Amino acid sequence: MEASRRTSECRGSRLVVAAIDLGTTFSGYAFSFKSDFESNPLKISTNDWSAEGVHSSEMKAPSILLLNPDQSFNCFGYRAQHTYSDLLDDDPDKAAKYYFVKNFKMQLHNREISLGMMILDVTGKELPAIKVFTESIRFLKDHFLEMFTDKKLGFSINDVFFVITVPAIWSDAAKQFMRVASEKAGIKSSQMMLAYEPEAAALFCSLLPEDQGIAKYFQERRRLMIVDLGGGTADITVVKVIKREEKLTYIEHVYRVTGGAWGGNQVNKNFEKFLESVFGNDVMDEFKRDYLSQYLEMMRDFEVQKKTLSTSGTKTGVGIRFGGDLRHIFKSKRGKDIKDELQDKLKGMVRITGDKLRFDLAIFKRFFQDCVKEIVNHINESFLKEDVLGRLPMILVGGFSDAPVIREAIVDAFPVIKDVVSPVATSLAVLKGSVIFGHEPAIVTGRVCRETLGLTLRRPYVPEGQTEKKTFKIDGQLRADKSFQKMFSNK
Ligand SMILES: Nc1ncnc2c1ncn2[C@@H]1O[C@H](COP(=O)(O)OP(=O)(O)OP(=O)(O)O)[C@@H](O)[C@H]1O
Ligand SMILES: [Mg+2]
Repeated sequence: MEASRRTSECRGSRLVVAAIDLGTTFSGYAFSFKSDFESNPLKISTNDWSAEGVHSSEMKAPSILLLNPDQSFNCFGYRAQHTYSDLLDDDPDKAAKYYFVKNFKMQLHNREISLGMMILDVTGKELPAIKVFTESIRFLKDHFLEMFTDKKLGFSINDVFFVITVPAIWSDAAKQFMRVASEKAGIKSSQMMLAYEPEAAALFCSLLPEDQGIAKYFQERRRLMIVDLGGGTADITVVKVIKREEKLTYIEHVYRVTGGAWGGNQVNKNFEKFLESVFGNDVMDEFKRDYLSQYLEMMRDFEVQKKTLSTSGTKTGVGIRFGGDLRHIFKSKRGKDIKDELQDKLKGMVRITGDKLRFDLAIFKRFFQDCVKEIVNHINESFLKEDVLGRLPMILVGGFSDAPVIREAIVDAFPVIKDVVSPVATSLAVLKGSVIFGHEPAIVTGRVCRETLGLTLRRPYVPEGQTEKKTFKIDGQLRADKSFQKMFSNK
C-alpha cells in the first residue's frame, strides 16, 4: 500500500499514461489523458498501424525488429517485415548481414537471465538480448511521443507515465530485465511501472459496459478465474473483487499466477516441426537458408490461415501457400516429388494442390493439440484440487483465446464451469488494462508471490506452546532456533 501511495505521489504531475505492450507476436501502445480517465476510464486510444502498409486496421504490430549490420536500429513491426522481405528479394547477400529478430520475448521465459545474455535472429546470428528489447521499447515509445509532437499538443516525455507489461509468470529477474531495457530506451525509472498482463486484462474486463456481458462477474467478494492466452505464454490465476466503484474495481489475487509457454506461437512451432518431420531437417534448413523470403512468406500464410480456422461451417481443409523452391530442394536431395512423399507418408491427409499444402481439417487441428492439453491439464492440476472450479466464472483474454479450437476445448474439458466468457477485443485487454492500472496502481491490492517469503526468527523460548524444539542461548537468555514467520505466501 505504502509503495503504491509513493507511486501515486510521483505520478501526480503526469498528464498522460501510456502503456507499452511488447508481446511475443504482437506489440503496441495505448494511452489516455488523466482528464479522460477521470470521466471515463475506458476512453483509451491506440495507434492504427494500417499506415505501415497493412490492408486492415490493426491496433498492434508484429513484434519484429530489423537491425542494420552494425546492430543499429533500422525498423520495427510491419515496416521491418516489408523492408527485410524486399532486401531478401533484391540482394540476399546484403540481407544476410542484417539482423531480423522475431518472437524474442519468449527468450526471457524460464531461463537464467543476465544483462549480457545473447539471443539469435532468424538466420542464427547472435546479438545481445538487451539491445533487442531496448530498441523495440524505444521504437514504441518514440512512435507514441512523435504522434504527440506531430499534433502540437505541447506535451513532453515528462508529462507521461509509462506502464510496461510483463507476463505475471516470469521470474523476477526477467521482469527486472524489462525494467532495465525500458530505462535504456529512455524511460526514467521514476516515470514507469510494470503491469502484470493477466491483472491488467482483468481490470479492463471489469470496467466494460454492463451490456457487454462481462462486468457482471466482477461483483464485490466474488472470485473469478482469469486465463490469459497470448502468443507466448498462458497465465492463469484466480482473483477476488475487493471493492467495486463506479469507475474502478479493486482486486486481489487468491492464488498465485501460474502457467507456461502454451501461447499461440506454439501452434506455429508445431507446423514447423511437422515440415521437418515430413521433409527432413536438411531440406528445411536449406530452404530457410537459401530461400528465407519464401519461408517467411509461408509462415505468414500459416498465421493467417490459423486465425481464420473455424470449428463450424463447411470447411473441410486448410491450404498453406508454400514456396516452390521447397519442392526443388526436396527433389534434388531425395530424387522424389513432395507430392509423392506426402501421399506415401500421409495417405492424402496432406496433399499438394497448386501452390498450396492442403491439410484435412482434423490434421490441421492437431497443431493446436499440445497447447490445449497443457492448458487443460494445468487448470485441472492447479485449480481442481483446490475445489475452486465449477463455482467460478472463467474469463478468457489474450489473442489466442479467440481461437475457436481453444475455446471449445476448454468448454468441453470443464463442463462444471458454467460461464466461460471473454471480451470482444481480447488481444487489446492487456494493453488497455495497463493504461487503467497506470492511472490507479492501487487497484490491485494484494498479490500472491511465486515463493513463500518470510523471516527466520530467534524468538525468546517459551516452553508452553513452543513448536520449535531446538534452543540456544544469547546473553544468557534461552531462544528458539529458526522459527519461520511467513510474511508473503505463495498460496
Ligand atoms: N482467431 C485466432 N485463432 C487462433 N489464434 C489466434 C487468433 N487470434 C489471435 N491468435 C493468436 O494469438 C496470438 C496473439 O495474441 P496476443 O496479441 O494476445 O499475444 P502477444 O501479446 O503477442 O503474446 P504474449 O502476451 O504471450 O507475449 C498469436 O499467436 C495469434 O496467432
Ligand atoms: Mg500480450
